[in-house]
Amino acid sequence: MTKLYVNTQKEKGKINKEIYGHFSEHLGRCIYEGIFVGEDSPIPNTNGMRNDVVAALKEIRVPVLRWPGGCFADEYHWKDGIGEKAKRKKMVNTHWGGVVEDNSFGTHEFMELCRQLGCESYINGNVGSGTVQEMSEWVEYMTFDGISPMADLRKENGHKEPWQVHYFGVGNESWGCGGNMLPEYYANEYRRYQTYVREYQQNKIYKIACGPSEGDYEWTEKLMQMAGKFMNGLSLHYYTLPTGNWQQKGSATEFDTETYYITLKKTFFMEELIRKHSAIMDRYDPEKKVGLIVDEWGTWYDVEPGTNPGFLYQQNTMRDAMVAAVNLNLFNLNCERVQMANIAQMVNVLQAVILTEGERMVKTPTYYAFDLFKHHQDAELLESSLFGCGEIETPEGSVPQITQSVSSDKEGKIHMTIANLSADQSCHMESILSQGKIREVEAEILSGDIHDKNTFDQPEKVKKKAFEIREADNDTIRFEIPPCSLVHLALACDQGNM
Ligand code: AHR
Repeated sequence: MTKLYVNTQKEKGKINKEIYGHFSEHLGRCIYEGIFVGEDSPIPNTNGMRNDVVAALKEIRVPVLRWPGGCFADEYHWKDGIGEKAKRKKMVNTHWGGVVEDNSFGTHEFMELCRQLGCESYINGNVGSGTVQEMSEWVEYMTFDGISPMADLRKENGHKEPWQVHYFGVGNESWGCGGNMLPEYYANEYRRYQTYVREYQQNKIYKIACGPSEGDYEWTEKLMQMAGKFMNGLSLHYYTLPTGNWQQKGSATEFDTETYYITLKKTFFMEELIRKHSAIMDRYDPEKKVGLIVDEWGTWYDVEPGTNPGFLYQQNTMRDAMVAAVNLNLFNLNCERVQMANIAQMVNVLQAVILTEGERMVKTPTYYAFDLFKHHQDAELLESSLFGCGEIETPEGSVPQITQSVSSDKEGKIHMTIANLSADQSCHMESILSQGKIREVEAEILSGDIHDKNTFDQPEKVKKKAFEIREADNDTIRFEIPPCSLVHLALACDQGNM
């Protein structure tokens, strides 16, 4: 029996809704086809955005969307993507498949997408091949309310009112595809560029500096030392590769049980990354004002056979849902420092929540993980501890059988997200609250074989279902979680001691 103790009196910080953020890049079929099909498409759309995709994304309450890259951001010149569509410049998307980018999805279209989703905008600016002036003018174009060259241009292009830009990234992977810079050099560039990311009128911008790749602690040290005072957030990128080898990452759908566990083990490395980067940040920012922004995370496999290698299109199984559960629980548990996270990527790329093919769409197992976790958005993290939890051995070390996090929402409901990572063993569990009498339990589950997936021919093989609790009395509930499952429990309680 595994016991989960929840201290209902101990709040450990707010789980920012932005932890459930997404990332959309001009890469493969993420933006074009996946989200944006244009107004003249036979696929039902509103101002060019697919109605089916937008409706599905609204269900999981996408809180924030990052755009236009990724590596694409440091080659993107925003002025190419505004004005009359027929006159917009065409360019080569050198990073991603060498295809023609016709710029038909630009700033106005992105802001329209955010409007339809009801989410915040996270724009990533170009440091690698752009200028300070270009970045500064983009911010003026989007947010200045008054008479100025860029605000006037925006009005000429049909948008009188300024938009709100909530988050602004100053460069992406500046240590790599964003310019191959050294940390000292980038820290200076960051200081210079961010100076001109102006806050006009009411628009408050949360500025994000390019942070480390995985375990590059020197990068974090230098950035915090030289530029910590000029940033609100520092990004972190870490992808789960089953093999750890970029040349042969492994198949998304064909894997054995050992590879399944190794994939989870590699995902748990996120815990060490958050802990060690946070420890460095703590020395420069003990009040935890600067957020660690995990704005690229997820699985990265070999592309689906027969697809363009530059499009990063991969299938998604219950293994991915478990990877999502591990990461999202870790982000919740570290919400004091992790202020935002963005899965890579939203549609048709890497660990996507949605796949499309022509007019068809499927929700992936990862989609349902986000659906079960959405109740934590803006809730208070509660202290929780596991006892008697089994360990699963892998050739790379062990992983716990259970991952969990618990929060209390604005109405006082307690939400638990508990994943049983075992491929073949169910887990008997007992959850005990320190205070309060359980009045009502709602429970839902995502469960399956580690290989289960949704396809265009069988789109509903994996989906969430109602889950039955074995017993609920006073402060305790008992239940059995099947192997490879994720459970969301919502507890309505009467307060006070029993
Ligand atoms: O998400 C795909 C790519 O991965 C992004 O463009 C880049 O930032 C990262 O290397």
